[in-house]
Amino acid sequence: MVIKQAELDIVCGITSKLPDTGMPEVAFAGKSNVGKSSLINGLMNRKSLARTSGQPGKTQTINFYKINGERYLVDLPGYGYARVSQAEKEKWGKMIEKYLHTSKNLKAVFLLIDIRHEPSANDCQMYEWILHNGYEPIIIATKLDKLKRSQIQKHLKMIKEGLQLKKGSTVIPFSAETKQGRDEIWEVIESLTDG
Ligand code: GTP
Ligand code: MG
Repeated sequence: MVIKQAELDIVCGITSKLPDTGMPEVAFAGKSNVGKSSLINGLMNRKSLARTSGQPGKTQTINFYKINGERYLVDLPGYGYARVSQAEKEKWGKMIEKYLHTSKNLKAVFLLIDIRHEPSANDCQMYEWILHNGYEPIIIATKLDKLKRSQIQKHLKMIKEGLQLKKGSTVIPFSAETKQGRDEIWEVIESLTDG
């Protein structure tokens, strides 16, 4: 994918009305700090257009990145961030749910899981939710560079089993450091948003 143009086009906070962009969208969901914004930067070939942080809870709005004027990558706030109040968590949860529920243009939801860790209860719930709403789930195993090569297969198996993935579902390993997996992810995005 050649990126001719990438811009942060729309930012939605808790009280914002969700937009109808009129263009295909794919969204990136996952636990706080799993690497959603870093993946989006990697896909856009931008170092820091999407703000990232070592501290979880960085992305607190739904951010719509417009790519080449033809589709959107949607960065969602992470779940499971311990340091916000329960009330705040619920508001974000509702906002994410509302987006996933009402978007006319959403084509697929990418679920990011840290390749080092077993999927959490929240991850499993998110996976179920994606399936339940009829979206194509694509699992991205992030932070691939943090594992030794010899550990990778074992960890991919752990993720598949943890989520109880259906046979034939793909898990794409990705590293924001080396960009490994980028081309494969773009292929999937293009196949889901073309035509
Ligand atoms: P929230 O916005 O808080 O939900 O987090 P996020 O999922 O957007 O995570 P973000 O992209 O901000 O990354 C969190 C931290 O993990 C940052 O310090 C990143 O540099 C680091 N990180 C993300 N992806 C990778 C990766 O592939 N490899 C390594 N080594 N670090 C990564
Ligand atoms: Mg983020």
